[in-house]
Amino acid sequence: MIGGTVNVKNISKYFDSARVLNDISIEIKSGEFFSLLGPSGCGKTTLLRIIAGFEMPTSGDLLLDEESVLSKPPNQRHVNTIFQNYALFPHLSVFENVAFSLRLKKLDKKTIQNKVEEYVGLVQLQDHIGKYPAQLSGGQKQRVSIARALINEPRVLLLDEPLSALDAKLRHELLVELDRIHDIIGITFIYVTHDQEEAMSVSDRIAVMKDGVFLQIGTPFEIYESPSDLFVADFIGASNTIQGKVVEIYEKYARINTPELGEILVDLDKPLKAKDHVVVTLRPEKMHISKHCPSLDAPKVNCVSGTVEQMIYTGSHTRFVVKTDQGFEFKIFKQHAQYFTTEEPITWEDRVYIWWNADDSFIVEVKHP
Ligand SMILES: Nc1ncnc2c1ncn2[C@@H]1O[C@H](COP(=O)(O)OP(=O)(O)OP(=O)(O)O)[C@@H](O)[C@H]1O
Ligand SMILES: [Mg+2]
Repeated sequence: MIGGTVNVKNISKYFDSARVLNDISIEIKSGEFFSLLGPSGCGKTTLLRIIAGFEMPTSGDLLLDEESVLSKPPNQRHVNTIFQNYALFPHLSVFENVAFSLRLKKLDKKTIQNKVEEYVGLVQLQDHIGKYPAQLSGGQKQRVSIARALINEPRVLLLDEPLSALDAKLRHELLVELDRIHDIIGITFIYVTHDQEEAMSVSDRIAVMKDGVFLQIGTPFEIYESPSDLFVADFIGASNTIQGKVVEIYEKYARINTPELGEILVDLDKPLKAKDHVVVTLRPEKMHISKHCPSLDAPKVNCVSGTVEQMIYTGSHTRFVVKTDQGFEFKIFKQHAQYFTTEEPITWEDRVYIWWNADDSFIVEVKHP
């Protein structure tokens, strides 16, 4: 199958006087796995409903495969939607749920049989084809709705938080499944979620939304490593945020003075001048923690000392909160690469050093004085 292109052009949407989408534009490529990620109420479902044809924008245009489709009803758009709550017919078997739209099209019996078997097989439910929705688990029900949406051979599949009703393990399983199905059928997926890990793990690109606008559109790597602002940095994974004033600029680094940590070196990833005010973020997994001061012969390493305030063991890593002597609370994630380690264990209230490479900081805001 061939994926459709989706071109959202300057779309705004008001409900009465409330503006829910504010002049947003985006071009989604054929076959892309594209995610809309943002907090509750930011307008994700509204945008999806506009693309599907269930809602009209107040202004702007929507092109599917280069053609404006605003005047077309949902069933003429080559788009299908999967909802969070499955929306299956309870009185119909898996087979009949999946066959439903083909029966409406009055296809012959043999064609229906073959196609339903093909799509039920695609979502790996062949052993459950005669069951009714009440006899299926949540994950199986969602597989039925995937098969039912795909059997219409849409060019674009819209998925509105399709996994949010499932528990964590099933959610992960079905996400891998969706990724596999996307690879096999090759159509465009637009996936709505407020779970950043979900979006990061499967998307080609992600649009981070807030209050009806896109704050950043990029690959998971771009959004994680180069967040456009503080909101994106915080929303996508954890971060430490430090404010400071530029003291001196070097070729690749800047020295900044911070009220909470004294002077530190940061990577010069944006043009800066002396006296600029900057906001810098640091990812907790890029920080190091130990009881002994590291050898600081490398000039671009920053090191501060503090006390362990919190320690949460998660199995794969430990999350520390360390309060520096000046009162700044640092989040640090320490990966457990080895079970037996010669390092001295760290625990609550220990005095520790934390250090990080200046290359691993990222400037998210610059204000010129
Ligand atoms: N039919 C409607 N009438 C009035 N207001 C609406 C309507 N639909 C949505 N809204 C409002 O628009 C805003 C965006 O809603 P939307 O459902 O698009 O958010 P969302 O990003 O999908 O949130 P969630 O993650 O909770 O699903 C909300 O403030 C919501 O109350
Ligand atoms: Mg929603």
